Amino acid sequence: MRKNIVAGNWKMNTTVPEGVELAKAVVAKAGEVPASVKLIVATPATHLVPVAEVVKGTPVGLSAENCADKEKGAYTGEISAAMVASTGAQYTILGHSERRQYYGETDAKLVDKTRLALDNGLGVILCVGESLEEREAGKHFEVVEAQTVNVLAHFTAEDMKNIIIAYEPVWAIGTGKTATAEQAEEIHAFIRKTLAGKFGAQVADDTTILYGGSCKPSNAKELFAKPDIDGGLIGGAALKADDFIAIAMSF
Ligand code: 13P
Repeated sequence: MRKNIVAGNWKMNTTVPEGVELAKAVVAKAGEVPASVKLIVATPATHLVPVAEVVKGTPVGLSAENCADKEKGAYTGEISAAMVASTGAQYTILGHSERRQYYGETDAKLVDKTRLALDNGLGVILCVGESLEEREAGKHFEVVEAQTVNVLAHFTAEDMKNIIIAYEPVWAIGTGKTATAEQAEEIHAFIRKTLAGKFGAQVADDTTILYGGSCKPSNAKELFAKPDIDGGLIGGAALKADDFIAIAMSF
């Protein structure tokens, strides 16, 4: 059975002390969330060690926002999957559209990153999603299918136990313009069908698929009510513990 997950992607926000406070506020309220919903905070790399201390022994999971496509060595400024795992984090986000758009993240690099993350025991939150131009050109299915297949073609049904997919239409991220629950469900169902084609119905059924893009307390309930939407990857609203928890209580 797939899990319901609400993950907060803090992006490049908060200093370390602010992040620790935010994590403490999330932990303090985590008990209000039904046990069937897994909470994860995805923090900047600098925050992972102190936030790991905060979430230790609580139901709140910890994720990085990225990791390197190389194992180790002379790659100044990069942070390897092994380093992320050594902080106590259990997950990493990979392929966020902001990384694809601003930092040249390609599907080929994502294959290497995903492999290294899995090899180091990290769960992967793999992001896919079309731009506004692609949606307006009617290419959203094609784009999402390619992003999904280009990476996952290199992985097995066994690997899929540790891979979560996040559908984040670029036009909905940080814009206040949420995809309608119907638009999101349509793509989620399509991703699940794509997974079924590659890995079989059981894997498709067991894979958690999150929605991301201006998800907030006021629209989470409608989104999470859809059969193929298993939770959210939350940006702006995850920076306020009350909003983040309210979203998680929308199941
Ligand atoms: P917003 O919730 O701020 O739109 O961001 C979504 C997102 O990119 C999460 O990864």
